[in-house]
Amino acid sequence: MDLGLQDRVAFVAGASSGLGLAVATELAREGCRVAICSRYQARIAEAARQVAQEAGVAPERVLAVACDVTDEAQIEVAIGRAADHFGGLHILITNAGGPPTGFIDDFDAEQWRMGLELNLMSTINLCRHALPHLRRAAAEDGHARILMITSMAAKQPVPNLYLSNTARAGVQGFAKTLSEELGPTGLTVNTILPGFTRTDRLKHFVKEIQAHSDKTEAEIEAGWAAGNALKRIGEPDEFAAAVAFLVSARAGYVTGIAFPIDGGHVKHLL
Ligand SMILES: NC(=O)c1ccc[n+]([C@@H]2O[C@H](COP(=O)([O-])OP(=O)(O)OC[C@H]3O[C@@H](n4cnc5c(N)ncnc54)[C@H](OP(=O)(O)O)[C@@H]3O)[C@@H](O)[C@H]2O)c1
Repeated sequence: MDLGLQDRVAFVAGASSGLGLAVATELAREGCRVAICSRYQARIAEAARQVAQEAGVAPERVLAVACDVTDEAQIEVAIGRAADHFGGLHILITNAGGPPTGFIDDFDAEQWRMGLELNLMSTINLCRHALPHLRRAAAEDGHARILMITSMAAKQPVPNLYLSNTARAGVQGFAKTLSEELGPTGLTVNTILPGFTRTDRLKHFVKEIQAHSDKTEAEIEAGWAAGNALKRIGEPDEFAAAVAFLVSARAGYVTGIAFPIDGGHVKHLL
């Protein structure tokens, strides 16, 4: 299937590793010109080199921009740079690292604020600053997309992930509202909800658990896998393939949905 992504311009946030990096690589492979951001210039420049190499595209089709998505001023500059560099913007993928784990007594008000800045406000501000460009793209030929990377926690809270569970619920409300307002323009707005997927964040969780137990990495992963229908951990490229479809020209009638890529972890009927 031709996804109709050739020469589309995509901005992928949180893309120096993990899901963001896999998404940027998949979109570059499908023909997009891609701007990627994360906090540190050296890391994001290396990621851009890796994306171009793995996708087999010219280095100038991947732009690295250092941007901390908890800082609105940096977002404004980063989105502006991407749109200037490539002459517009058609696709926004919001993403960032996940917040720390913990229970209700583990976080003070400042830590709550930081968690919401990282996973809720960053999403809202990325959308706000990308919208003028995306509206223009939608007016040109109707192919403009916002896709927000959140978590299966949006549908089924994870016990020690208060900050994530709360921020993701906020993103869901924002996304659905935005999809209604922007629908008449043709700009689609969806969220995509990863389950356990093999990235640095998952390795970090393994280490956290190992600090309080004598389980091996394989035993910990097997415990997670046992909770989903497919009985295995997902791979970043499996996640990225679903992203590529949802931002493609072929997904023009899909908006306002929360799409789980979790191997059947969340046990909802609809
Ligand atoms: N992997 C899973 O199993 C899983 C499951 C459910 C939900 N998720 C969610 O999916 C998202 C991506 O997860 P991942 O597994 O890909 O994590 P990851 O491997 O840790 O990657 C996180 C990315 O975000 C960047 N980042 C972190 N803070 C940032 C900031 N303030 N501004 C800009 N970039 C920032 C990191 O780059 P720098 O550090 O270089 O800035 C890195 O590129 C997270 O929200 C996570 O909670 C993941």
